[in-house]
Amino acid sequence: MKTTTRTLRELKGQRPIVALTAYDFTTARLASEAGVDLILVGDSLGTTVLGYETTVPVTLEMMLHHTAAVARAGPDGLVVMDIPFPEAHRDVGRLLDACARGLQEGGAGAVKIEGGAAMADRIARIVAAGIPVLGHVGLLPQQIHQLGGYRKFGKTPGEREALLADARAVEGTGAFGLVVEMVDPECTREISEALKIPVIGIGAGSHCDGQVLVSHDLLGLTAGKTPSFVRRYAEAGKVIGDAFKRYAADVRNGNFP
Ligand code: KIV
Repeated sequence: MKTTTRTLRELKGQRPIVALTAYDFTTARLASEAGVDLILVGDSLGTTVLGYETTVPVTLEMMLHHTAAVARAGPDGLVVMDIPFPEAHRDVGRLLDACARGLQEGGAGAVKIEGGAAMADRIARIVAAGIPVLGHVGLLPQQIHQLGGYRKFGKTPGEREALLADARAVEGTGAFGLVVEMVDPECTREISEALKIPVIGIGAGSHCDGQVLVSHDLLGLTAGKTPSFVRRYAEAGKVIGDAFKRYAADVRNGNFP
């Protein structure tokens, strides 16, 4: 059965929501077969698949291209397209067009927009147009150049208060859910308890309504170090690398074909 934003809202307090990123048809199909509730076509596309250092170079066209591939798998999980930098900060009419293209051309069922209270008016306009929005607070990778690096948020009372205010502001827009990234677990607990909408964490501890991970990280496909909160469920990079080596050796030795 297809997961809708309503299904996800109803899951709060019932069972944890399982979310995963995917950027292509095959991964989306496998995630769907595994019963993943929400498939996020994250702008982590830039670092995982396209080889950029950050998510900043990712464009709307790239997001649409990969979202459409994911949607073609027809997954049961809700497909959510990330709105890339700097689309969310442009004129709200242009933001609305970007979100609508995510649904019309990308085949997504919802979009994700980074930012808290400062983005609330814009998110409300998108929701009012009938486009479901997943919010995102805590670490905002699209602002990495301003942040100067990746770190945990919500450790001080001031940051906790600000994050709670951001989360409430996003809920007030009519967003159907909220991603909290790299947030102190106690702060995540406060946010999850304060909101009626589901809170999906990444590097934010277990006191929330669901978890999302970057699929390349959990599969062992990420080059270099994975974030410390990731659990690697496979060493797919090694499996694929070994297969390529055996194929190359067979061709060179005349064992294939
Ligand atoms: O781009 C992405 O994959 C994300 C997740 C880390 C939540 O925003």
